[in-house]
This record gives sequence, structure tokens and C-alpha cells, in this order.
Amino acid sequence: MSHIPHRSHWNNRWTFMLATAGSAIGLGNIWKLPYMIGVNGGSAFVIIFLLCIFLVGIPLMMTEILLGRRAQKNPLDGMNVLALEAKTSTHWKWLGGMGMVTGLLILGFYSVIGGWVLRYIGASASGAFSNITAMQSTENFNQLLASPFSLLFWHTVFMMMTMGVVARGVNSGLEKANNILIPALFSILLVLLGYSMSVGDMQAAYQFMFSLDFSKLTPTVVLSALGHAFFSLSLGMGSVMVYGSYLQKNVSIARTTIYIALADTMLGLLVGLAIYSLVFANQLEPSAGPGLIFQTLPIAFGHMPWGNLIATLFFMLVAFAAWTSAISLVEPAIAWIVENTRIRRKTAAFFLGLIIWLLGVAVVLSFNEWKEVKIVFGLNIFESLDKLTSTILLPLGGLFMAIFAGYFMKKDHVQDELNLAGYKFKLWQMTNNYIAPIAITAVFLYLLGVIK
Ligand code: TRP
Repeated sequence: MSHIPHRSHWNNRWTFMLATAGSAIGLGNIWKLPYMIGVNGGSAFVIIFLLCIFLVGIPLMMTEILLGRRAQKNPLDGMNVLALEAKTSTHWKWLGGMGMVTGLLILGFYSVIGGWVLRYIGASASGAFSNITAMQSTENFNQLLASPFSLLFWHTVFMMMTMGVVARGVNSGLEKANNILIPALFSILLVLLGYSMSVGDMQAAYQFMFSLDFSKLTPTVVLSALGHAFFSLSLGMGSVMVYGSYLQKNVSIARTTIYIALADTMLGLLVGLAIYSLVFANQLEPSAGPGLIFQTLPIAFGHMPWGNLIATLFFMLVAFAAWTSAISLVEPAIAWIVENTRIRRKTAAFFLGLIIWLLGVAVVLSFNEWKEVKIVFGLNIFESLDKLTSTILLPLGGLFMAIFAGYFMKKDHVQDELNLAGYKFKLWQMTNNYIAPIAITAVFLYLLGVIK
């Protein structure tokens, strides 16, 4: 019914919002943010993370969308087109290329964690969490990690789900499902939060996450927070750029960005509060690491009325959120292959899926057989992939996107896309041209030991 113009604008805006929100909201909010807060000492991390979202994440999300909308292409060809338009070197296309590779590296471990979630749907449904103790829950999770076959099986299922959708072409049905499922996820979280509030130690959780305590602030905390702002908003690799190319010209990039970023951030913080109030009430370890939500949530679900049902629904919604994010991690690379070679979409999805799956096999083994195999900085395979992508490749991608939009593109082209006037444009310019690049560079230099 797209012959009704107003209606069709509205639809377009929603398609974009939902696709981008679907990409942003995922394991990053529900699985990663909570444990990162714990590993990085609580409130110091949260405060820097929020600063990074507002001062770096939001402006760079606007930048990435504007690059995508202007280019109307996959990230590599898109950067090429934009470079030509800006009359500068087409080497900028390698920025798009780097992003596509980054997406594949992320999916290599993302899919394994997506597998954990799938495993937990079945466990919830079968009542495995009924009246579970904290010890049993940790034990269950450790058993899963110790079993390469189980991990491999669920990783394989998750990869098949992801590549199955990608092979068919980005399926707008899935994006529409977001329309119901993301609010549903929010609602279940509120239930969880209410429960945590009544039985858990919400005060301790609040203190841990929000009290102004900079004593635990270290350069690694800052780097992790910056990296996670990128990860959580899907920035720096081209996911948002590709989705930005769907966006109707007359839709406000700034407003859409702010909605998405706020929803994404709120969701993560709500999960964090729910989890930490359980952690403190059950004397669990806040810095448990990647297993945190899988160890704590079953305790809550196992004791609440209707717990099995709520847990099953919860893990299904998380799996769904992870699924829509995973798709956005490969879509840029697939789009590039399909647009540049004679390889068919299905074939491309199959082979790319195979490569990512193999990477995932190594990640699976890094939780058991290859636990001690160190790759970089004394980290195992899973940790290396995570650190390399979140703390280096994504911020680097974002840095160059900001520089490109701020210093190479013509100002009227940027202004034409952003369609902001006066102080609003200035605000974007300030953050994109100065604050974000300087912040990212400073963090990098500090880590390289240049600034002491
Ligand atoms: N943002 C998603 C999450 O929070 C993960 C994700 C999807 C992503 N696409 C991305 C992360 C691109 C970085 C870059 O789960």
C-alpha cells in the first residue's frame, strides 16, 4: 500500500528504526554489559560508559547513518563513492573493508554466546531451574562450558539461524517482529526487576552501579567502557551504515539516533540492576565474567512464581535479540560479495557462514580444551577476539568515520543529510570533529604508553 505517501514515509522510518534497534539491542546489553560492569569495578565503568555513549556513541551513530544514507551502498563501495564525491583518496574504501572483517570476527564469538542462550531456553522449559541454589546454578553453567559438544551444537544452530536469514536476503518480517518482541523484552525485564527488587539487594546494586566512586578508575576501565559503547550501539563496522542506506531522506537522523541509543542503554542498565541485586543478595561474585547472567538469572527464575515460563520467554526474547544483531554483523560483507561478484547470495552466505563457524569452533574450545592457549596479551581465543574487536577495531573504525565526515566530506553534504541547524549542528560538529576523535586517540595513545 505504498502509494499513500505519508504512510510510506512512516513505514520507512519504522523499518529503519526497528532494523537498527534490532542490531543495537542484543547480547551486548543483556549478556555483556552486566558482566563488564562487574569485571571493571562497578560505578566507575558505568559512568565512563554513559559519558562515552553521549559524547562519542550518539554523535558517531549519527555520522555512521549519514555516511550510509549518502552512499546507498555496502560499506566498502560506499566509502569509495563518498571518497569520490569528496574528491579525496579512494583508499577510504578500506575503512569499509576493515569493518566487514570486524563483523565476521565478532560473529565468531557472538554466535557461541547466542548458543548458550539457546541452550538456556530448553533448560528453562524443562524446569531445570526450579528451586535451584546459587551453587547449583554456577555448577550447571560450568558443566555447559566444559562440554565442547554441547557448545558446538548450539553454536551450530545459532549460525544456521543467522545465515538462513541472511541467505534469503534481509527479511523485513524479522524486523517487523522486533516491533512486538523488543517491547516484550522490556516488559519481562520489568517483571524481573520487580522480582529482584523484592528479594534481592537493590540498594547494594544501585550503590555498586551508580555511586560516584572513581577509586577503581584505570585506563583499562576507560578503554573497556569506550569499546563497549561501540559494541552496544553496533558502531564502527558498517552495520549501522548499511541500515542507514534504507533510511528515507526526510527522516531526522538525530532524533532516531537518540531514541535508539536511549532504549539500548536503558535496557542494559535495567538488566544490570536486576542482576546485581541478585548477585549481592546471594553472595555471588560480581566479577564472575562472561557467565554472570547465566549463573545469576536462573536463581531468580527458579524461585519466582511462573518461573519456568518466564525464564523460557526471557531466554527466547534474548535469543531473538541476539539473532537480529547477528544478522547485522554479516550483512555488510554479504552485500559486498553479492554486489561485486557473480556469487549468489545463498552461496556467499554458506561459505562465509562456514568460515565464521570455524572461528566459532576455536572459540568453543577456548572455554575448555584450549583454555590455556593464549593469543595476544595473555588472553585466550575468545578473550582475544572480543578485546581486539571491541577495544581496537570498532573505536578505530569510528575514529576514521568521524574524521572522514568531519574533515573530508563537504560541509553542505553533511548538513544536507543531518538537516540540523544552528546550535544542534554545532553540537554534532563539536562532538564529531573534536571530542570523539580526541577521546578515542587519547585512549589509544595512553594504552600504547605514549601518554603516561
Ligand atoms: N550491538 C549488538 C549487541 O549489543 C552487537 C552488534 C551488532 C554489533 N552489530 C554490531 C557490535 C556491529 C559492533 C558492531 O549485541
